[in-house]
Amino acid sequence: MTAADNGSFFIATPIFYVNDVPHIGHAYTEVAADVLARWMRQSGKDTWLLTGTDEHGQKILRTAVANGVEPKAWADELVARAWLPLLDTLNIANDDFIRTTEDRHKQAVHKFLTLLHDKGFIYEGDYEGYYCVGCEEYKQSADLIDGSEDFPDARVCHMHGRPVEVLKETNYFFRLSQFQDRLLELYASQPDFIQPDSVRNEIVAFVNRGLEDLSISRSTFEWGIDIPWDSSHVTYVWFEALLNYITATGWGSDDDTFAKRWPAVQLVGKDIARFHAVIWPAMLMAADLEPPKRVFAHGWLLVGGEKMSKSKLTGIAPSDITDVFGSDAFRYYFMRAITFGQDGSFSWEDLSARYEAELANGWGNLASRVIAMVTRYFDGKIPTELGAVLPADQAIHDTIDTAAHGAAKAMSTFAINEAIASTWRIVDELNGYLTEQEPWVLAKDDAHRQRLARVLYTAADGLRATAILLSPVMPEASQKLWVALGADNSVGPLTKQLLTEAGTHSTLPPGTPVAELVPLFPRIESAE
Ligand code: MSP
Repeated sequence: MTAADNGSFFIATPIFYVNDVPHIGHAYTEVAADVLARWMRQSGKDTWLLTGTDEHGQKILRTAVANGVEPKAWADELVARAWLPLLDTLNIANDDFIRTTEDRHKQAVHKFLTLLHDKGFIYEGDYEGYYCVGCEEYKQSADLIDGSEDFPDARVCHMHGRPVEVLKETNYFFRLSQFQDRLLELYASQPDFIQPDSVRNEIVAFVNRGLEDLSISRSTFEWGIDIPWDSSHVTYVWFEALLNYITATGWGSDDDTFAKRWPAVQLVGKDIARFHAVIWPAMLMAADLEPPKRVFAHGWLLVGGEKMSKSKLTGIAPSDITDVFGSDAFRYYFMRAITFGQDGSFSWEDLSARYEAELANGWGNLASRVIAMVTRYFDGKIPTELGAVLPADQAIHDTIDTAAHGAAKAMSTFAINEAIASTWRIVDELNGYLTEQEPWVLAKDDAHRQRLARVLYTAADGLRATAILLSPVMPEASQKLWVALGADNSVGPLTKQLLTEAGTHSTLPPGTPVAELVPLFPRIESAE
């Protein structure tokens, strides 16, 4: 059985360059992968989330040299100081973290290169052309634009705006050109292999224009993984970095684990979709391995209309946001405000506004009110002796069911923002329900005791559904709410609750004591 049909879900983020510290564009990829992984894990799939760091190549070498340290020492420092802590900052539940300087990676890369060499897919040749160290990518002249005022006479990389370098080297080449037909067949037979469609169309057009063989080694510097049969070359950084997805999951060393995990869903920014949807599947085909299950390209975070990047000084550190708003709000905001797969603009104003309206006054306030009324009117226990189900209660039951189904459907196509919007219908409708049912008025007359019990039970049970459905996005607030509802004791741990069953209404056990709920989203004094 392969991972494609055994109900397992392996999702990988790109591995991050350690030349600098993370900004919120990197954090966006991490959070999206974590939300998808938590969702699948809680849907009962055997899930594996892999992330890590890309540590070789000229970009990192030059940064280290400029800082007067060895590249490995530089990478060690950045991983320890910035990249591993990022996972805590964002509350990422990854299953593994691979560094390309680890032995497990190097050994498997050697094995892979030897395999492709033995199979005749690698040959020695001359490369003459452009290279952008920022992208770590060989460039065609069509990829270049005229330099702006800083470099008026140069042709520059359109991503980095800096002049490209001209290389003339004897390198080893991978016979990428041989894979054009097989790649086109893959795209045709599996229409959702590359998503969204805009990226798919661009990739299909690119491959249709024909592929050139790819230089996969460099011989003018030493910071990399040596070519096993020729130690005067190091492996081209992208060629070995792509292999992390299989070197981390046992290829070449642990066949059972590899068979269980592979193929992966690859989550990437659209700038690196070509590497993942063209070069990577071709490499795998050459080694007789399955291509990834899917390559999903998300859009860019824009700040002031530009792709955020450290080099353009638009970078914002994730902790700048989480220190003020917390990790849940960070995760919610980027997953909710941006249509997954499209570009989206970040602004502090929008973040503050959504924090206040949707989190603090929306979900958070709803939770506080319901727990407070259960505490006040029912001696701190989820009501028992419930009155009959009236149409207004039935409407909430239906909403819970529809919202849960809608969220699951959206998540199956990675429409994370739609899944949240679907769940939010429960929040909005419960707020309306409380306004209409006026439990504080019902509480004034003992004759309405059972009706009051029904209303507060319905609201608490709706909150139960929100805690489960939102736990992949906001694990901390969901957990607090779960505990406050007494569900930790009466139902069991939140992470064990199947999302597929969240939509079954009236499953919160009556009679359970609730616990105090600290505000889920406290007021922020100077949100701007
Ligand atoms: N090291 C390569 C990936 C190798 S994978 C085998 C790389 N690293 S990166 O650190 O530059 O970028 C990692 C991810 O962050 C990419 O998916 C990239 O798209 C994403 N982002 C970097 N800046 C971004 C934004 N401004 N917005 C959204 N995502 C962005 O590429």
